[in-house]
Amino acid sequence: MDEPRFIRLVNNCARLFLLLATQISILTGSTAAQIDSPGRIRISKQTDACVKCHKEETPALYQQWGSSKHFRGSIGCFECHRANKATDVDAHEHHGEYIATLVTPKDCSRCHKREAAEFSGSRHAFAGNVEGSDADILSRQVCGNRSMFSNSRPQGVSPVQVNGCWQCHGAEVKVDSRGRLDPLTYPNSGIGRINPDKSRGACSSCHSGHSYASEQVRHPNTCGKCHLGPDHPQSEVYKASKHGIVFKAHQSEMNMHKTKWIVGEDYVAAPTCATCHISATTQLATTHNVGTRISWNNRGAVSIRADEADRLLNLESQNLSWKARRRRMNSVCRTCHDKNWVENFYMQYDAQIELYNEKFAKPGRKLMQLAIPLRRPSEPFSNSIDWIWFEISQRHGRAARTGAAMMSPSHAQWQGNYKVAKDFYIKFIPELARMAGKAMKSQDANRRQAGMALREGLDNLQASEDHKWRTMK
Ligand code: HEC
Ligand code: HEC
Ligand code: HEC
Ligand code: HEC
Ligand code: HEC
Ligand code: HEC
Ligand code: HEC
Ligand code: HEC
Repeated sequence: MDEPRFIRLVNNCARLFLLLATQISILTGSTAAQIDSPGRIRISKQTDACVKCHKEETPALYQQWGSSKHFRGSIGCFECHRANKATDVDAHEHHGEYIATLVTPKDCSRCHKREAAEFSGSRHAFAGNVEGSDADILSRQVCGNRSMFSNSRPQGVSPVQVNGCWQCHGAEVKVDSRGRLDPLTYPNSGIGRINPDKSRGACSSCHSGHSYASEQVRHPNTCGKCHLGPDHPQSEVYKASKHGIVFKAHQSEMNMHKTKWIVGEDYVAAPTCATCHISATTQLATTHNVGTRISWNNRGAVSIRADEADRLLNLESQNLSWKARRRRMNSVCRTCHDKNWVENFYMQYDAQIELYNEKFAKPGRKLMQLAIPLRRPSEPFSNSIDWIWFEISQRHGRAARTGAAMMSPSHAQWQGNYKVAKDFYIKFIPELARMAGKAMKSQDANRRQAGMALREGLDNLQASEDHKWRTMK
C-alpha cells in the first residue's frame, strides 16, 4: 500500500531539497531556481528573470510554484506563460519577454497531450454554450440588465452573467487593442471558457493555484464550486451519501497526495468524485472526459442517454455507447462492492429515471407545448407557468435524479420526488387549467381552439394510469 521504497526515498530527498532551498533562499535572498540542485532542476534564463521579481511581487504564488512538480520538472513561469507575438492575440511584452496571462488548455497540451485532448472533447469544454437556454434568459433579462460595459463589450452585458453563469460555465475572453484582457471575462476560470487562442475551457477550473497539488484536485470540494445548489446538488448529495460520510471519517487515510492513486491499491476507505468520474482503477486509466463513465444525462427536462446527449453537440465521444460507459463505472464500483450490489443499484437508479421521465417530465413537456400559444405576453418567464415548470424540471427533477444517481435518499424523496409531485399537482395543473379555461372563453377562434386542445391534454393526463388516483371516488 505504501509507495515503493525507491520512490519514497526520491520524494523525501526532493522534499528535503525543497526545504533546504527555501531555507537557503530566505537566508541568502537567492532564489530556489538559482541553486544547482542534486535533482537536476534546470531553470531557464527567462524563468530566472521572472522569479527574481515575482519572489517579491507575488511571494505566495512563487512559493506555490516552488512546491510543485513543475518546479521539480524544471517547468517555470516562462514555460507556461510564454506567448507568440505573431499568433497569440493576448501576447504582451512584459519586462523584455512576450507573455500571456492566460495559460489555456492549448498551452498545457504542449506537455500534457492526452489530458488536454480528453478534456477538450468533453462536455465540460463546451459548457460555455448556454446561450438561448431558459437559464440564459433568466440571467440576461429577468434577473439582470445590460449595465456592465467594457471596451470589448460596448453593448453591455448583465452582471448576473459575469458573476454567476460565466464563473461556472465560462465566457468568451476578449482582448482589447492593447492586449489587455476584458475585465468582464477575466478573472474567470469557468469550465467552458472560450479562450483567445480558440481553445475551450480552463484547466484551472479544477487545478487551482500554482502548486498543482493532487490532494486539492482529488478533493470533492474542487467539483463543489460548481456542482452544488438546488439546480445541481451533486455536492450535497455526495455529503449525505454513505460514500461522503465514510470519506469524511477516513480522509486522513486517503493518501490523496500520492502520485499513483489507484482505488483498492493506494486507498480503500471511500470514493471521492474524482474516484468515480476521473481517477484510475486497476482496470481503467484516468480520464479527463468526465462523461465517459455515466450512462444518463439528467440535465434536460427529460433525461436522455449520455451518448445521445453527446451526439447533440457532435462530440467524438458520441461513439462510446451508454452501455460501455456504464461498464467503466461498474469497474470502479466493483473495487469495493460485489456484482449483485452494483447491478441492483443500477436497477434502482434506472427505475427512478424512468418514473420521473414517464410520469412527470414527458407529459409535462407536452402540456407546456400546448400552453405556448396561450402565453400572454409571450416572453419567457413573463408567465407564472414558466417559473413553475422551470422549478419542477430544472430543480426538483434534478434533485430527484441526482439523489438516486449518487445515493442520497433525502434528495431523491423529500427534495426531489415530493416537490416534483407537489408542484405538479397543486401549481402546474391548476395553472394550466386556468389558462385553458380563460382561452376557451376568448373572442379569438384560434385561441379558443388552443384552449380546448390544452383542456383535452389535461383531461387525458387525468385519465391516465399514473394520474387517475386524483379523481377516483
Ligand atoms: C522587473 C520585474 C518583473 C519581471 C522580470 C517579470 N514580472 Fe511579471 N509582473 C511584475 C509586476 C510588478 C506585475 C504586476 C503589475 C503588472 O501587471 O505589470 C507582474 C504581473 C505579471 C502577470 C499578471 C499580468 C496580468 O495581466 O494580470 C503575469 C502573468 C506575470 N507577471 C508573469 C511573468 C512572467 C512569466 C515573467 C517572466 C517571463 C515575468 N512576469 C517577469 C513584475 C515582473
Ligand atoms: C504549469 C503552468 C504554469 C506555471 C509553471 C506558472 N503559471 Fe502562472 N498561471 C498559470 C495559469 C493556468 C494561470 C491562470 C490563468 C488563467 O486564467 O488561465 C496563471 C496565472 C498567473 C498569474 C495571474 C493570476 C493571479 O492570481 O494574479 C500570475 C501573476 C502568474 N500566473 C505568474 C506566474 C509566475 C511568476 C510563475 C513562476 C513563478 C508562474 N506563473 C508559473 C499557469 C502557470
Ligand atoms: C513545458 C511543459 C509543461 C507545461 C506547459 C505544463 N506542464 Fe504540467 N507538468 C510538466 C512536467 C514535466 C510535470 C512533472 C511530471 C512528473 O513529475 O512526473 C508536470 C506535472 C503536472 C501535474 C502534476 C501531475 C502529478 O502527478 O501530480 C499537473 C496536474 C500538471 N502538470 C498540470 C498542468 C496544467 C494544468 C498545465 C497548463 C496550465 C501544465 N501542466 C503545463 C510539464 C508541463
Ligand atoms: C455554481 C455554478 C453554476 C452557475 C452559477 C450556473 N450554472 Fe448552469 N450548470 C452548472 C452545472 C454544474 C451544470 C450541470 C448540471 C448537472 O450535471 O446536473 C449546469 C447546467 C446548466 C445547463 C444545462 C446544460 C445541458 O447540457 O443541458 C444550462 C443550460 C445552464 N446550466 C445554464 C446556466 C445559466 C444561463 C446560468 C446563469 C443564469 C447558470 N447556468 C449558472 C453550474 C452552474
Ligand atoms: C474537472 C476537473 C479537472 C479539470 C478541468 C482538469 N483536470 Fe487534470 N486532473 C483532475 C483530477 C481529479 C486529477 C487527478 C487524477 C488522479 O487521481 O490521479 C487530474 C490529474 C491531472 C494530471 C496528472 C496525470 C493524470 O492524467 O492523472 C495532469 C497532467 C492533468 N490533470 C492535466 C490537466 C490539464 C492539462 C487540464 C486542462 C486541459 C486539466 N488537467 C483539467 C481534474 C481536472
Ligand atoms: C467550474 C465549474 C465546474 C467544475 C469545477 C466542475 N464541473 Fe463538472 N460540470 C460543469 C458544468 C457546467 C457541466 C455541464 C456541462 C454540460 O453538459 O453542458 C458539468 C458536467 C459534469 C458531468 C457530466 C458530463 C457529461 O458528459 O454529461 C460530470 C460527470 C461532471 N461535471 C463531473 C465533475 C467532477 C467530478 C468535477 C471535479 C473533479 C467537476 N465536474 C468539476 C461545471 C464544473
Ligand atoms: C460512488 C461513485 C460516485 C461518486 C463518489 C460521485 N459520483 Fe457522480 N455519479 C455517479 C454515478 C453512478 C452517476 C450516474 C451515472 C449514470 O447515469 O450512469 C453519477 C452522475 C454524476 C453526474 C451527472 C449528472 C447528470 O446529468 O446525471 C455528475 C455531474 C456527477 N455525478 C458529479 C459528481 C460530483 C461533483 C461528485 C462529488 C461531489 C460525484 N459525482 C461523486 C457516481 C459517483
Ligand atoms: C472505495 C470504495 C468504494 C467505491 C469505489 C464505491 N463504493 Fe459504494 N460504498 C462504499 C462504502 C464504504 C459504503 C458503506 C458500506 C456499508 O455501509 O457497509 C458504500 C455504500 C454504498 C451503497 C449503500 C448506500 C446506503 O445508503 O446504504 C451503495 C448503493 C453503493 N455504495 C453503491 C456504489 C456504486 C454504484 C459505486 C460505483 C458507482 C460505488 N458504490 C463505489 C465504498 C465504495
